[in-house]
Amino acid sequence: MKILVVAGARPNFMKVAPILSALERAGHERVFVHTGQHYDATMSDAFFRDLRLPEPDFHLGVGSGSHARQTARIMEGFEPVLLESKPQWVVVVGDVNSTIACALVASKMRHEHDCRIAHVEAGLRSNDWAMPEEVNRVLTDRLSDLLLTPSHDARPNLLREGIDERRIVFVGNVMIDSLLRMLPHAKALQMPERLGATPGAYAVATLHRPSNVDDAAQLEVILGAFAELTKRLPVLLPLHPRTRERIGAFGLDSVADGIRLMEPLGYSEMLGLQSEAALVVTDSGGMQEESTVLGIPCLTLRETTERPVTVTEGTNRMAPWPLTRDGILGAAESALAGGRVPVGARAPEGWDGKAGERIVAALEEGSKGESLSLRLLLGLVRGQFPIAP
Ligand code: UD1
Repeated sequence: MKILVVAGARPNFMKVAPILSALERAGHERVFVHTGQHYDATMSDAFFRDLRLPEPDFHLGVGSGSHARQTARIMEGFEPVLLESKPQWVVVVGDVNSTIACALVASKMRHEHDCRIAHVEAGLRSNDWAMPEEVNRVLTDRLSDLLLTPSHDARPNLLREGIDERRIVFVGNVMIDSLLRMLPHAKALQMPERLGATPGAYAVATLHRPSNVDDAAQLEVILGAFAELTKRLPVLLPLHPRTRERIGAFGLDSVADGIRLMEPLGYSEMLGLQSEAALVVTDSGGMQEESTVLGIPCLTLRETTERPVTVTEGTNRMAPWPLTRDGILGAAESALAGGRVPVGARAPEGWDGKAGERIVAALEEGSKGESLSLRLLLGLVRGQFPIAP
């Protein structure tokens, strides 16, 4: 089979790496497309090197822009790629603008060119329509032929939206394939020591959601809480470019006094740093999942999470909402008091390093279904009984 895999932004790279290798092992022809939504050395190149991703067959080079502009540019760039490569499957992952843009282009060609769409990480819902990612998730699922779910809570979400259950396949969490593969290497980097921190005695934080960093008052509350937390333990904060820009624009540098601000880290560097932390504080989706598998307490600075299994089964907890300095500090104390658990002790089902293989198996199985229904249809058109022995 010929299978096209799309990646665009930082949280996509660790998801496509295991899928691309599983496709290669199974002997399928793969076409790898990088939309270029993220393009920096730190947001993209470092991940390609670290995860040993192959060179993309197509690089769309779309870069940053408003949602409309970025999505439109991805669509324009992707259409000729799809026409030229003619894959049987287009595989999109996660919930970024590249995910919906490519799914939308493929959906308009599905019938004419007989290509189908598989969404990896289907069925996650925050039910918060103010999040651009929620719009991307719901619409991508609606457009996809095969909905590959990472956790068991995803299926009822899809059924509630009227998705045919035969299209939903539980495959587990493919991001954890990368985590388990890279963990020994990540630990060997000795990140805390390299950054002058003591293993097990620091917090690692990340912050990039527009709802947290584009609002000056909200960003001030969060940075104020982090600064206060540094009296208890060092807080290391690798900065997303958006957040760095906002801190400067809002004049909040002095509020961040005492926090260890850093450039964005590569995949293994961040994994190594997380794996030895006493606490993770984040608004990222991926880090809620990674900390759950690593057994590190996590505090999520959002009103809702589309990954509730990290709370019900894992090590994650939601900060009291609306966020206040004392609310964040109190929740951080409780999370720290809970302590760490061994790697994998709280991992939900299917977060086991084998999701890439299950995804390939689901695509193969899905294609059998396709050829059967295609044969049925062709047979009906020709007035023949369609199923040949
Ligand atoms: C995107 C995803 C978000 C994901 C996040 C991870 C969408 C809607 N959002 O948000 O779900 O959690 O990636 O990082 O797709 N920038 C750079 N260099 C880069 C990329 C971005 O400097 O390589 C800066 C630009 O100033 C840009 C800003 O970061 O305007 C935001 O980038 P963008 O891709 O629009 O959204 P993210 O906030 O990164």
